[in-house]
Amino acid sequence: MFESKNKYFGRKKGKSFARLEQFQKYLVPPSKDFFKQIGKPRVLEIGIGDGEKISSDAKLYSNINYIGCDIFADGVLRAIRNSKENSLKNLVVFHLNIQDILPFIPAKYFDGIRVFFPDPWPKTKHKRRRTFNNELVQTLSSKLKKNGYIHFATDHDDYFLDALVLLQDQGYRMDNISPNSWKYNEFNALDTKFEKKALDKNHKLFYFSVLKNY
Ligand SMILES: C[S@@+](CC[C@H](N)C(=O)[O-])C[C@H]1O[C@@H](n2cnc3c(N)ncnc32)[C@H](O)[C@@H]1O
Repeated sequence: MFESKNKYFGRKKGKSFARLEQFQKYLVPPSKDFFKQIGKPRVLEIGIGDGEKISSDAKLYSNINYIGCDIFADGVLRAIRNSKENSLKNLVVFHLNIQDILPFIPAKYFDGIRVFFPDPWPKTKHKRRRTFNNELVQTLSSKLKKNGYIHFATDHDDYFLDALVLLQDQGYRMDNISPNSWKYNEFNALDTKFEKKALDKNHKLFYFSVLKNY
């Protein structure tokens, strides 16, 4: 494991950690050379949670290279286990805060970036803990290619709006603005753990995909 210099307030280990601990030996430190040897296209997922979504997508789309990170150890180690069990060559995950990885990433590196159900920190006094903030969006934008996409999902309407405004301010455009593209439906369902939790609680779910056209 690598100690993060960046502050994070969420959970760092869960019940499955003891079972998955053995996969820690496959964790790699981020480095410029490491990122240079990953082929294209490349998709970054910030906050992979239980690690299942990124693993199943890597299995489904073997032509895409997936790079994921999370501070929560269990999901990262589960993704490593999935990758080993299925001999996936297109999946790499870091047990790190996204802020600790970005300095090693070349400019215009990613074809897409996904942020699914980031911790909402709904209380006003905690909002500055939100990962998807102005500072992160600025750095992410420099790492995203022209015509690259950012795909975002949340069950918090104010996070949805804040994120949209942040990206609009950075000059992103949205191809499809019909409610079908941003309200939950079977077509845009992601099938992540936190999407399921939100559906169980009858929350409204919001999705969007924006393109960087510069
Ligand atoms: C609410 S969970 C959602 C997980 C998953 N995307 C899903 O939809 O089920 C948010 C995840 O983001 C992770 N996270 C929060 N801030 C992060 C950061 N700065 N860098 C990496 N991961 C982060 C948390 O540890 C947590 O696992």
